[in-house]
Amino acid sequence: MEHALEVRNVSLRFGGVRALSEVSFAVNDGELFSIIGPNGAGKTSIVNCISGRYRPTEGQLFYRGRDITGLKPNARAPLGIGRTFQNLALFHHMSVLDNIMVGRHHLLKNNFLTGALYWLGARREELQHRRKVEEIIDFLDLQSVRKATAGTLSYGLRKRVELARAMALEPKLILLDEPMAGMNFEEKEDMARYIVDLNEEFGMTVVMIEHDMGVVMDISNRVVVLDFGRKIAEGEPAAVLADPHVKRAYLGEEDEVLTYPDDLPSNPPAAERVA
Ligand SMILES: Nc1ncnc2c1ncn2[C@@H]1O[C@H](COP(=O)(O)OP(=O)(O)OP(=O)(O)O)[C@@H](O)[C@H]1O
Ligand SMILES: [Mg+2]
Repeated sequence: MEHALEVRNVSLRFGGVRALSEVSFAVNDGELFSIIGPNGAGKTSIVNCISGRYRPTEGQLFYRGRDITGLKPNARAPLGIGRTFQNLALFHHMSVLDNIMVGRHHLLKNNFLTGALYWLGARREELQHRRKVEEIIDFLDLQSVRKATAGTLSYGLRKRVELARAMALEPKLILLDEPMAGMNFEEKEDMARYIVDLNEEFGMTVVMIEHDMGVVMDISNRVVVLDFGRKIAEGEPAAVLADPHVKRAYLGEEDEVLTYPDDLPSNPPAAERVA
C-alpha cells in the first residue's frame, strides 16, 4: 500500500547543529500518528521538512508516493498538506471568520483577470467558501466567537481557531505542532476529541507533535520517538512508552528509572524504618 507520507533518511543541519540525523518513518493513510521526544529533539524540524519550510540537508520526503523534497511550501498546500504552528500564527486584528477564510486562500481560483465572467464566478465561489467555512465553525464549536477579533480570545480558543484555519485548506494530511500546549485539562480534552473526529469523520491523516503522554497514549495509532535528532523508537504507543530507551531519553539514566520507586519518601529504607 502507498503511504500517506514517507520520511526517508532525512538529515538537517544548521551550521554545526545536527537537528535531524537520518530519520526515517512512514505514516499510513488514515492514521493518527504522533511524534514525541524531549525538548530540542527535532520534532518541529521534521514537521518543517514535511511542510516545506525547511529543506533537508540529506534524504527525501514522499507524499502519497510522490517525491516532494524539492517543492516549496506553497506547492505542497494544494497537494493537501496542511499544518498548525507551535507558536500561534493568527492574524490578531482580524476576525475569527476572516482568519479561517485565509486558510482557503490557495483554493481561490478566480482572479481579477477573468474579466466579464468574474463577478458571477466569484460570487458562486465565495458562496462555496462560506459554506465550507461554516461547516468547520460548526464542527469546532466556534459559532459564538465567529465575529470576535482573534487577538482577544483565550489561548485555548486561539489554538482552536488555528486548527480551523488549517482545516479550511481541506488537507488530506494535517500536521499539528503541539495543538494542546498551554491548555487546561478541559481544553485538552476538547482538542483531543476534535483531533480524533477530524481523523475519523473528515478522514484526514494526522501527524501530531504532543508532549502530553496521556493524550498520545489515548488517541494515537502509532508513535515515533526522537531524541537529539535521531529516531530511537517507533510503534504502538504502549509498547513505545515501555521501551527503556524512551524512558532513558525522558528521565535520564536508565538506572535512575529502575531504582526510582525505592527512593520515594513513602518507601524509606528498612534500616530507617526500625530506627
Ligand atoms: N532555524 C533554526 N536555526 C538554527 N537551529 C535550529 C533552527 N530550528 C531548530 N534548530 C535547532 O534544532 C534542534 C531541534 O529543534 P526543534 O525545534 O526541531 O526541536 P523540538 O523537538 O521541536 O523541541 P520543542 O519540544 O522544544 O519544541 C534544536 O537544537 C534547535 O535549536
Ligand atoms: Mg517544537
